[in-house]
Amino acid sequence: MTAPIRTLRVTEVTPETDDAVSVTFEASDGDELRHQPGQFLTLRIPAPDGWVARCYSLSSAPGDARPTVTVKRVPGGIASNWICDRLRPGDTVDALAPAGRFTPAVDQRDLLLFAAGSGITPVMSILRARAREGGTAVLVYANRDERSVIFADGLRRLTEAHPDRIRVVHWLETLHGLPDPARLAALAQPWAGADAALLCGPAPYMRAAAEALERLGTPRSRVLTEEYRSLAADPFAALAAAGPEMPAPDEAGAATLTVRLDGERRTLPWPARTTLLDLLRARDLDAPFSCREGACSACACRVVAGEVKMLRNTVLEEEDLAEGYVLACQAVPLSDHVEVVYD
Ligand SMILES: Cc1cc2nc3c(=O)[nH]c(=O)nc-3n(C[C@H](O)[C@H](O)[C@H](O)COP(=O)(O)OP(=O)(O)OC[C@H]3O[C@@H](n4cnc5c(N)ncnc54)[C@H](O)[C@@H]3O)c2cc1C
Ligand code: FES
Repeated sequence: MTAPIRTLRVTEVTPETDDAVSVTFEASDGDELRHQPGQFLTLRIPAPDGWVARCYSLSSAPGDARPTVTVKRVPGGIASNWICDRLRPGDTVDALAPAGRFTPAVDQRDLLLFAAGSGITPVMSILRARAREGGTAVLVYANRDERSVIFADGLRRLTEAHPDRIRVVHWLETLHGLPDPARLAALAQPWAGADAALLCGPAPYMRAAAEALERLGTPRSRVLTEEYRSLAADPFAALAAAGPEMPAPDEAGAATLTVRLDGERRTLPWPARTTLLDLLRARDLDAPFSCREGACSACACRVVAGEVKMLRNTVLEEEDLAEGYVLACQAVPLSDHVEVVYD
């Protein structure tokens, strides 16, 4: 099992716009930081009265020399301003393993992407991966004005190198006004048949893009969203604390769990009041997680047999639930036997 907390050394801090920087890391333990396009890191950042944990999407693609996150200042925000103002090459930051489900499936060859502001970060990772691996992608990218466009040059280079496969349509509020569903739908109409649509940005933009897709008849099952929010809990503190009690294998009423994770298949007793995540980590299984509060989907896995109950879920949608996805950090057993897989 890899260490749940990795220490990352900052190798570069690159200004992207007046209020956004990219931070490039190398892992201090020398092990490669493997991730999927569109995944995020959870970083531990100093705060005036201790620490906060914040998620930042990787803008680098898997296989790039070094993992990179891109952070935009939020007025009054603790972590984003600390990163933009204080982080320097040579500094170290603690991180949880890359996680998240904002990743198109391998067989989804043609993508329609909607991003606004710092929502470009995971989308850039996906575009970089697409450029390398094949498939097409069209991005509708909204920003306040030209100066606030993160990755303007990088996107231009990608479209110039792959004019037949990658296309970017810029939406500038100073020119076009606020994005609305009707005009977004009209813009995206030629690509409405894409295999998957991915949305990332501030809540009003996500709502407008989601409504545009509804107008275009895109099934919800083909839409992936990534919502940005600050974590309330501190998963680093939870890890540093004693950790969950090792569940007693013979506890009365324990269900049986079969889990497939990292190419391994294990069967374990699953005590009724223990969450799936706590159980797996107590048994040295490297199950991913971030917020532990049912809000980020980093811990999502699929139930393929049996039934579980989620104590809290603010992130999985009806379509995810219909496909059997559950949040391991919130799942407790309902049936005597449960089988779950990590994709
Ligand atoms: C999966 C995921 C991926 C993400 N990826 C990225 C990314 O790639 N790039 C990126 O820039 N961001 C990303 N985010 C968002 C990021 O995690 C932070 O939420 C963001 O940087 C703001 O954090 P902060 O600490 O700077 O602000 P916070 O301190 O959390 O404050 C946020 C806002 O709330 C206000 N506020 C805070 N506390 C109070 C209070 N007590 N009362 C009233 N107002 C208050 C602040 O003034 C500020 O306006 C992502 C989030 C998630 C969940
Ligand atoms: S760890 Fe975030 S939802 Fe479970």
